[in-house]
Amino acid sequence: MRMMLFSSRPYDVESFRSAQAEGAQAGFGAIELAFNEFRLDERTAKLAEGVQVVCPFVNDGVNAAVIERLAAGGTRLLALRSAGYNHVDVAAAARAGIVVVRVPAYSPYAVAEHAVGMILTLNRRLHRANNRTREGDFSLNGLLGFDLHGKTVGVVGTGTIGRVFARIMASFGTTVLAYDPFEHPEIAALGGRYVSLDTLLASADIVSLHCPLMPSTRHLIRESSLASMKPGAMLINTSRGGLVDSLAVIDALKSGQLGHLGLDVYEEEGPLYFEDHSDELLLDDVLARLLTFPNVLITAHQAFFTREALAQIAATTLSNALAWQRGAPCNVVEPDA
Ligand code: NAI
Repeated sequence: MRMMLFSSRPYDVESFRSAQAEGAQAGFGAIELAFNEFRLDERTAKLAEGVQVVCPFVNDGVNAAVIERLAAGGTRLLALRSAGYNHVDVAAAARAGIVVVRVPAYSPYAVAEHAVGMILTLNRRLHRANNRTREGDFSLNGLLGFDLHGKTVGVVGTGTIGRVFARIMASFGTTVLAYDPFEHPEIAALGGRYVSLDTLLASADIVSLHCPLMPSTRHLIRESSLASMKPGAMLINTSRGGLVDSLAVIDALKSGQLGHLGLDVYEEEGPLYFEDHSDELLLDDVLARLLTFPNVLITAHQAFFTREALAQIAATTLSNALAWQRGAPCNVVEPDA
């Protein structure tokens, strides 16, 4: 079986090769791997002609046209090396007879710990303090933070990642409020409780997003939700960029209604993220504006990026492909999911 990766980077090559070596007994070595640095799109899809399994990453726009081209070339499986699948037209894949599988959980710790890292950095201005001391500036003006202990943290989406995040934040002595259509008993066990989204936004000092991007969650954080948040609250998004209306957060930052913003994901990240554009002009005016705020911290979709997560992503992706070939359960994304 041949598997072709798109948008692959040296760390993908390394993690997939290591997974093949370590999973020799599971038969991982039988999968012939091809790595492409470029993205999967309508133009590049033809390179997968005769390749049964195609493995895109999160900013490959796998739309109906790409899927039709892949199907015409003989691709039968889209093995996503991500948990999120909002970049794939799953219904179009079903129509084309292509199965979509994903990596439902690799390291929830990676993403949850990154969200916590963003909170600590923004609160204590570590990003600014680091720059200052390197310039010989040892003053403290402008670096005043707050104790996390005793604060209220709102967790939107208490799936695998949201619950790890809630666990870590509870250990800081915060009160955890959660919002999720499906309640999980762990939140009560942590001393937290489920409330409506409105109550969560109105009560939390820190709001962290851990729900998927779907038509119903697009711009979950918009002008009205920002207005209902506690003045000066902190918003963290390590989930998907489309959950947050970027123009609305710029207004909320300018008015001071939003006190701190941590974004690992950005709604227009597609053309920029995972590549070095440091020699070019930044043409995205919204991102450029966000980068001017001292109380905004932006990382380039790196929350997943730990050794453990990469190893798990590679192992699960290879194992999904083999299980699919055998007709065994393989983390299929259902068309109406
Ligand atoms: P999960 O599927 O375990 O949990 C998602 C939770 O969100 C579920 O409990 C679900 O009921 C809940 N949910 C659905 N609709 C909701 C709504 N309208 N409001 C509140 N909650 C809602 O997913 P997991 O593994 O915890 O991942 C969460 C998200 O994190 C993924 O959808 C993905 O977009 C993002 N992610 C980001 C990464 C990064 O590197 N920045 C890496 C991995 C995932």
